[in-house]
Amino acid sequence: MSHGAAQKPATASRSENLRGIVTIPGDKSISHRSFMFGGLASGETRITGLLEGEDVINTGRAMSAMGAKIRKDGDTWIIQGTGNGALLAPEAPLDFGNAGTGCRLTMGLVGVYDFSSTFIGDASLTARPMGRVLNPLREMGVQVTAAAGDRLPVTLKGPKTPAPITYRVPMASAQVKSAVLLAGLNTPGITTVIEPVMTRDHTEKMLAGFGAALSVETDTAGVRTIRLEGRGKLTGQVIAVPGDPSSTAFPLVAALLVPGSDITIRNVLMNPTRTGLILTLQEMGAKIDILDPRLAGGEDVADLRVRHSELSGVTVPEDRAPSMIDEYPVLAIAAALAKGETVMQGLEELRVKESDRLSAVANGLKLNGIECVEGEASLTVKGRPDGKSYGTPQGEAVKTHLDHRIAMSFLVLGLASEHPVTVDDATMIATSFPEFMDLMTGLGAKITLAA
Ligand code: S3P
Repeated sequence: MSHGAAQKPATASRSENLRGIVTIPGDKSISHRSFMFGGLASGETRITGLLEGEDVINTGRAMSAMGAKIRKDGDTWIIQGTGNGALLAPEAPLDFGNAGTGCRLTMGLVGVYDFSSTFIGDASLTARPMGRVLNPLREMGVQVTAAAGDRLPVTLKGPKTPAPITYRVPMASAQVKSAVLLAGLNTPGITTVIEPVMTRDHTEKMLAGFGAALSVETDTAGVRTIRLEGRGKLTGQVIAVPGDPSSTAFPLVAALLVPGSDITIRNVLMNPTRTGLILTLQEMGAKIDILDPRLAGGEDVADLRVRHSELSGVTVPEDRAPSMIDEYPVLAIAAALAKGETVMQGLEELRVKESDRLSAVANGLKLNGIECVEGEASLTVKGRPDGKSYGTPQGEAVKTHLDHRIAMSFLVLGLASEHPVTVDDATMIATSFPEFMDLMTGLGAKITLAA
């Protein structure tokens, strides 16, 4: 489904006492990979807790179009994979909607096959750079036909025998790392990815779980070398997807900002490559208790108790960015209601997300009367804990640019602002967190969708 045609604004108003116990839907990164690896592996994969957002469903459709058999029985998704190396040529273009992860990882997965595959998406995805994935694929022998600037639509055609490469990832991107590794699955020999800055490691962990011959070496400077032997067997797995820490961020920050709040969020993924926001908020003075930390399906998970807190501005270390890259928009909202200044640096990757998130956040903050300075790759926010005079002016709305995280972040702002905050569109929240409205209003948040 594509968004933008029928926009639906939403408005959030000052709220009190968010209370309750909630379970956050499954992690988006792990859900995409569960469909991909399950669709590729031999035998059956069973998945519970899958995020049923539009992004992930599009990945499932793409895997079905390439021969995987996917069905749902009760709460369990059951996949019969094709077997590694045995994907079928898709008959029609693969439509990834809004999803960079689905699109870029699948480009790696199928791009090296000796047939043509075409990739399309919505207006947001079509504006995003694909060269970061297409360049290493070209090195492996893939022929690429793309719109100007390596944008979608893209058509890929692999060679008879792809060449294994050693690829040093030039930006901190789990999508690029993953695309190269997935291309390596159908490439003879050893494909090597060098990752100077560690990003989320779900691809490495999950591929190893499916039986891939994969090793990771980390040197004293923290540079990781990941080696994958291609054309091995993958075997179907049983996967329980933990709750998405990036979706957790919205009720979590809301509870910190709304007076009288005390909520518990259950079964949250606590993989250290994803917990930068929690650490930063704790440094700002947030009352977040990590309860019952445990291992589930090879991942750290925990429950989080979150209470209203008085926050103070901090400088967020630049090297923390990869572990909270999707959380800067909502951190900026927390910063707007903290005492003093919060400085965020190393944000260049924010410019190529579902929107240019750095300018979308800065413009949204300014529209709501919040002082901030947008740098090339930084954002400084001057907070005011009482939210006095914050809110969108009558008749104006925050521009979300088809970006779910911009929409949800500014709705959280409205819960603690003196005046209501309206966002121009909330429909694309369904790409990652379809339950957002019900979950938030269930906790006591005042958020309404336009009729
Ligand atoms: C993701 C990687 C990140 C992140 C995205 C999910 C993934 O993108 O922003 O939401 O699942 O690999 P980049 O690799 O572009 O940083």
